[in-house]
Amino acid sequence: MSKSDKVLAQVQARAGHAPVALGLILGSGLGHIADMVEGEAFDYAELEGFPVSAVSGHSAKLVVGQLWGQRVAVFGGRAHYYERGQADAMRVPLELLKALGADRVILTNAAGSFRSDIPPGDLMLISDHINFSGLNPLIGEDTDARFVNMTNAYNAEMRAGLEAAAKAEDIPLKSGTYSWYSGPSFETPAEINALKILGTDAVGMSTVPEVILARFLGLEAAAISVITNMAAGLGTEDISHAHTKNMAPIGAAKLEKILRQFIEA
Ligand code: HPA
Repeated sequence: MSKSDKVLAQVQARAGHAPVALGLILGSGLGHIADMVEGEAFDYAELEGFPVSAVSGHSAKLVVGQLWGQRVAVFGGRAHYYERGQADAMRVPLELLKALGADRVILTNAAGSFRSDIPPGDLMLISDHINFSGLNPLIGEDTDARFVNMTNAYNAEMRAGLEAAAKAEDIPLKSGTYSWYSGPSFETPAEINALKILGTDAVGMSTVPEVILARFLGLEAAAISVITNMAAGLGTEDISHAHTKNMAPIGAAKLEKILRQFIEA
């Protein structure tokens, strides 16, 4: 039995066998949505093969159940590459999501913005990414499935659905390119300048490895950044994790409305 088979048995024993329609992976300061699910909650620590995430602002639990009329699996908190140097830290959770029957996943994160028209407190719909870390969660995978086509990594239909949901809620939702920086230190202004030249609209320390894994597993993916600050050198605020956690709830309220519209539709 593989790690994800064991975890699947463990989760289905309590949460039942009905297929899950959608997965949600929540970023820093956005974990409260997990508490809105009516269902069974599992601490990551009790699920074999799940990462132990100790980043403050992440609640590190999986909840499987009903959210706004759909059966979902919500991952409150993720593990990041920067915690243990594992780019595939979220592989077992994503394999579990697939095994639970989901065919779609929405990822959220906190990010620094490069654009004055997407200021802190706003959201950005990720249309594409730049893997600036050069790391890859599929290194070591030895089947030809590792050669994943990343051309349409962020599903057009899901993006259109999220844009329509934002419009219905009267919430601005611009799209842009997200760059993955390994962290945990923040970027230097020179790195931000380099990323800007490369075409970045927002930068953060997650999501890219999970989207690569999702596409590898055949899950359709979409992702939204909650902008907590202007990227280094582009704004006046003092960039810190405390600032990220303070700012995240502002975007999180908007995010919740959009996700609700999207999931109910
Ligand atoms: N850089 C990287 N990660 C982040 C940032 C940032 O400016 N803000 C929130 N997460």
